[in-house]
This record gives sequence, C-alpha cells and structure tokens, in this order.
Amino acid sequence: RRRTAVLISGRGSNMAALLTAARDPAYPAEIALVLANRADAGGLALAAAAGVPTAVVESRPFRGDRAAHEAAVQAVLEAHDIGLLCLAGYMRLLTPFLVGRWAGRMLNIHPSLLPAFPGLDTHARALAAGVKLHGCTVHLVTEEMDAGPILAQAAVPVLPGDDAASLGARVLAQEHVIYPMALALVAGRAATPPAADVALSNPLPTPPSLP
Ligand code: GAR
Repeated sequence: RRRTAVLISGRGSNMAALLTAARDPAYPAEIALVLANRADAGGLALAAAAGVPTAVVESRPFRGDRAAHEAAVQAVLEAHDIGLLCLAGYMRLLTPFLVGRWAGRMLNIHPSLLPAFPGLDTHARALAAGVKLHGCTVHLVTEEMDAGPILAQAAVPVLPGDDAASLGARVLAQEHVIYPMALALVAGRAATPPAADVALSNPLPTPPSLP
C-alpha cells in the first residue's frame, strides 16, 4: 500500500473520506500522515481520533517565505516515508519546490468542474454565471493553479433556489465520492504515472426530482 499524506488547512471532511476508504485493507493507499499548515485545523482532531499520525507545520511563522515553509513540510514528509500526497482543502499556493518533487504523485480536489472556476468562491461564482451544472474535480498538481491533468470529475445540478451553501453541500457530497476513487487509481499504478492516460468515468449523482 502506498504511504500517503493528506495535507489540510481546515475541517478535513475530504481527509475523513480518504481515511474511511483506506480502512479497507484492499485499498491501495494507506493514510500514513495528516499534515496541517494551521494548528487550529479541525481535521487534525479527526485524524488523531482515527489513530493517524498528525503533524503541524505552521505557515504563518515563515512570513511569506513559501520556499522555507515547503522545505519544512518536505522534511516531515520524508521523515514519514511518504510516497503520495493528497491536498484536501490545503489553502496554500505551492511553489516549484514541492510541485517538482511530487510531480505525478500529488493530487488536489477542487470544488468546480475545472477548467471552469479555478480559484476561490467557486459556488457563488457558478451561481452568478448561471450554469446549470457544477461539480468537483480531482487533478494532479502542476505549477499552474488548478490546471493539472484531470483524474476524476463529478457533476451536480444547480437547482432553483440554490445558494452557495446548498450548492456547496451538494458538491461536497460528490467530492467525498471521487477523491477516494482518484487516489485509488493513482495509488494502484506504478509510481509516477504518466498523466495523460489516467481517467475515470463520472460517478453519476442521483438525478434530482425536478418540479
Ligand atoms: C473542499 O470543498 C475542497 O474542494 C476545497 O476546500 C474544501 C475543503 O473542505 N478546496 C479548495 O477550495 C482548494 N482551492 P474539507 O476540509 O472539509 O475537505
């Protein structure tokens, strides 16, 4: 099983979905570390309760020196003999230092159907744009933000009366489905998979009953 670290900044619901999937001994990845860049990340307590080693490498003391922060993160990953990385609500832009070291081995989940709506506030922006389908994407991390090769996507409908919270909750439920699928896909292959031939079909969400 591939030793995998999950990097978080907040509540860690995607991390929890990965932990649940990895409880199955047949799952090809083992969550060997949960690392946060904030000591107050809620997901740390969840991970500790599940018996998973945790680490905190606070970004704030590095005062914008992203390379130095990433070097500290890399040292912790090496100390835990990590072979795959999952960003799960890890709200840091990465530099070529980490991106280059983990090329083909670092996944991210993003709450939109990329390439639509990279960046922040995706649900409000999807509503403002008037799209009828929204969703989430798991992709390999490359230097350009939210632009790496796509591993998995799931679409959800935008329903009348949705606000960012209701739409975001519908998307989040699908995030918890496709992230474990995408990690299994990458972990089940040889190290450093070629990005181009990695693909999953969409898990189809239950169609809503329309008025
Ligand atoms: C998730 O919706 C994830 O897609 C998003 O943050 C949330 C984290 O929730 N990530 C980004 O916006 C990355 N730019 P979680 O901590 O409960 O997994």
